[in-house]
Amino acid sequence: MYARILVLYSSFLIVYSNKCYWNNKCSYKYFGSKTIYDEVRGDIRDTAELKGCEAVSVWSMIRHGVRHPTSSNVPPMQRAADLKEDIVRRYLEGHGSMCAQDINNLQKWSWHEVISSTPGDLTFEGYKELHDLGARFHDHFQQLLQKADHYNFKPTLEQRTIQSAKAFVEGLAGGYLRFKISNATDRDDILRPYFYCAKHDVEVYNGPRSQIEMNKYQETPEFQKLLKNVQKRTGLEEPISATNATGLYDLCRFFRAYSSTRSSPWCALFDDEELMFLEYLNDIRHYYRNGYGSPINEKLAGPALGELLQQFQASIQHSTRSFTGYFSHDSMLQMIYTSLGLFRDYPEISGFERIPGRKWRTSFMTPFAANFVTVLHKCVNESGTTDYQVQFFINEEEFHLCHSRTCSWQEFREKFDQFNNSNLEFCNIDNSSTSALESIVVGL
Ligand SMILES: *[C@@H]1O[C@H](CO)[C@@H](O)[C@H](O)[C@H]1NC(C)=O
Ligand SMILES: *[C@@H]1O[C@H](CO)[C@@H](O)[C@H](O)[C@H]1NC(C)=O
Ligand SMILES: *[C@@H]1O[C@H](CO)[C@@H](O)[C@H](O)[C@H]1NC(C)=O
Ligand SMILES: *[C@@H]1O[C@H](CO)[C@@H](O)[C@H](O)[C@H]1NC(C)=O
Ligand SMILES: *[C@@H]1O[C@H](CO)[C@@H](O)[C@H](O)[C@H]1NC(C)=O
Repeated sequence: MYARILVLYSSFLIVYSNKCYWNNKCSYKYFGSKTIYDEVRGDIRDTAELKGCEAVSVWSMIRHGVRHPTSSNVPPMQRAADLKEDIVRRYLEGHGSMCAQDINNLQKWSWHEVISSTPGDLTFEGYKELHDLGARFHDHFQQLLQKADHYNFKPTLEQRTIQSAKAFVEGLAGGYLRFKISNATDRDDILRPYFYCAKHDVEVYNGPRSQIEMNKYQETPEFQKLLKNVQKRTGLEEPISATNATGLYDLCRFFRAYSSTRSSPWCALFDDEELMFLEYLNDIRHYYRNGYGSPINEKLAGPALGELLQQFQASIQHSTRSFTGYFSHDSMLQMIYTSLGLFRDYPEISGFERIPGRKWRTSFMTPFAANFVTVLHKCVNESGTTDYQVQFFINEEEFHLCHSRTCSWQEFREKFDQFNNSNLEFCNIDNSSTSALESIVVGL
């Protein structure tokens, strides 16, 4: 009996020590705003039919696909990548607990020069994501696309969104339709309202709150345990700083997104639970910058949602068919969700403690290529009466904003009339208060 327990026990040990990253068939795949779209998306083509209805107008806000890290992401990633030689050396000296193959893969890894020379640019994988998304939309909205009276495709003024628009429209055209893409403009209140909003820039984007909450979370026992675990696992002599830990996390999640095998040797430095801690840290940042963490954020999507309302109204009034595709950023999508009261948690997201069952999860809200799609349907019921219904999709999954599958036109109006004719006047701040706030920010 005793011997059997021993045998059992030692076989558990063997199983445990075989738990390497390289041969883990179901490694963790939720990486906050750097999550790969295919790992969380639905498929718009599989949507159940709405009986007696025809899609007459589509309005969509789409995030660019996989991109390179921005120029502010790059330096901390490069500093973290400098730890590679030490990690390998410590392993060869007999320290740490990493697997041989994971160390091998790390040794073979190298920084791609193109990442630092074209920061923030759409990658090849990102182009494909948007192209495939467009192709699925072609299949689902084929009837509407062939008969559309108006269409509008417009990106923000960035390489990654301009290329994303191109990729999407190419897929959407299905090889026979022709669509022109509007030129990106510098200032765009619909596509990127926060970018030129002085109030958001000073009080939110460069304000202290998001950093304060992230710092608070980094002091929690679970985050401190993560730092210790990574040091133990790698056998490094120096403690791992939070900055180096997030740099290592970025090496894991960005290179994973570029890889055809959806893996990066840097992910071997973390276990699944630790990846959940880093995911939460990412969620805090977005919650304060773009979400419920500041009352400014929910106002910023007003012009976009107001335009959506007017497009549908025009389609009903003039019996026209239209299709709009906007190409923007995760901030924009998060602001739309915040305006609509979606993914809201009580208690609020904060640095005090991680909320495992939270609704605000950027992995599912805004992976690469995330999209918010609204469809106006013209329906005729059995007695021959015509009415209009509005259907919502988030990442190609039907989303129920009203009690049934769709909102009636009346219900839709009740939710969206507040956005009609909204503007960004609240963004103006007088310059004396700007400089006062700036000195507070610098002081912190
Ligand atoms: C991060 O790692 C780099 C590379 O080893 C090291 O030079 C640097 O001191 C570390 N930074 C912090 C804040 O610990
Ligand atoms: C877009 O920009 C290109 C190049 O700057 C210009 O040739 C073209 O006329 C513009 N198109 C529109 C619709 O403004
Ligand atoms: C059709 O719609 C009209 C208007 O909404 C409603 O009064 C009528 O009862 C509906 N008929 C059926 C058969 O559902
Ligand atoms: C939105 O405002 C415009 C005036 O700018 C008005 O004509 C239109 O009827 C309004 N739409 C809705 C749905 O309230
Ligand atoms: C406030 O600052 C903005 C940009 O810095 C400048 O364009 C504007 O003229 C200033 N306004 C006043 C009243 O000083």
